[in-house]
Amino acid sequence: MSQGKLITMDEFTIQETRKFPQATGELSALLRDIGLAGKIVNKQVRKAGLVDILGAHGATNVQGEEQMKLDVFANETLINILKNSNDCAGIASEENDNHVCYEDTFSANSKYVVLFDPLDGSSNIDVNAPIGTIFAIYRRVSEMGKPCTEADFLQPGNRLMAAGYIIYGSSTMMVYATRISVNGFTLEPSIGEFCLSHPNMKVPENGKIYSLNQGNTIKYSEGMVAYLNYCMESNKEENRPYSHRYIGSMVADMHRTLIKGGIFIYPADKSNKNGKLRLQYECNPMAFIVEAAGGKASTGYGNVLDVQPTELHQRVPIFIGSKNMVNKVLEYIKEKETVA
Ligand code: AHG
Ligand code: MN
Ligand code: MN
Repeated sequence: MSQGKLITMDEFTIQETRKFPQATGELSALLRDIGLAGKIVNKQVRKAGLVDILGAHGATNVQGEEQMKLDVFANETLINILKNSNDCAGIASEENDNHVCYEDTFSANSKYVVLFDPLDGSSNIDVNAPIGTIFAIYRRVSEMGKPCTEADFLQPGNRLMAAGYIIYGSSTMMVYATRISVNGFTLEPSIGEFCLSHPNMKVPENGKIYSLNQGNTIKYSEGMVAYLNYCMESNKEENRPYSHRYIGSMVADMHRTLIKGGIFIYPADKSNKNGKLRLQYECNPMAFIVEAAGGKASTGYGNVLDVQPTELHQRVPIFIGSKNMVNKVLEYIKEKETVA
């Protein structure tokens, strides 16, 4: 952070949106609301080992996964804050079966909807590793003044207005992207504000780190296995093998990728032909951020952002990060597919 005057996220967002005469300030307000939810979740995350918030909640979510108490807490916090704000017509969450429409007059007259993964990397809560919240903001396509509809939540990523994440790591940061730029804000605990610390983030074109669950190699395609061998060989670009890093929280693995460059992969495999990660809550927002920062995000057969969602909780394979590294893995995949 610079030694000069602190710029809060709110100040920054308002200054940025003033550059657009047609802006009404609703997007700034929405980002502030999401930041507020992030601060409340952060407070709970920071005392996770101290209070009875750790451990299983005893329920399963729509994907049949065990929900943790913090998952539920983060989900409810976001749903309630956005409901009480004037700027959100409805939400869809990884933790809810269906979208939630806010029925009051203010919400029905709002032009945005928000999709989120309230707590990403929840298996890392118990081991004090970084976790996060991921969000995606769309302009609704349904009629203003009426309740939102499912179509508002089934828009492709290339229609996103903004997307971002909050990482509860060694410090807490909120990173958000608009079409113009990606900026990172670190929570300054003494004033309780996110302050600009990482202006105009750019993902390096090349990287030295590959990140995926290599334990699944036996289930990967021939092209993927060939690419992994390439990563482990002394390659031409680096004259040494790439380093492997995998935290198992997409937010944390992507935050590193955004700052240091590299590639993050969750591919299709023999048992999951669409991989594991969810298009609308994880892949689209991360793809939007990475593309706004100059990187690339592919499903292996096209841009993540161009996938037309057909259902709320759909999954897609993802190859995301430094442009040249993504292009390289795509070469491997295509070559093997052509042979097959
Ligand atoms: P979530 O906690 O929201 O369910 O997401 C977990 C995701 C993602 O954060 C991470 O990249 C991936 O699951 C890890 O999966 P594996 O354990 O299969 O590697
Ligand atoms: Mn997740
Ligand atoms: Mn989650």
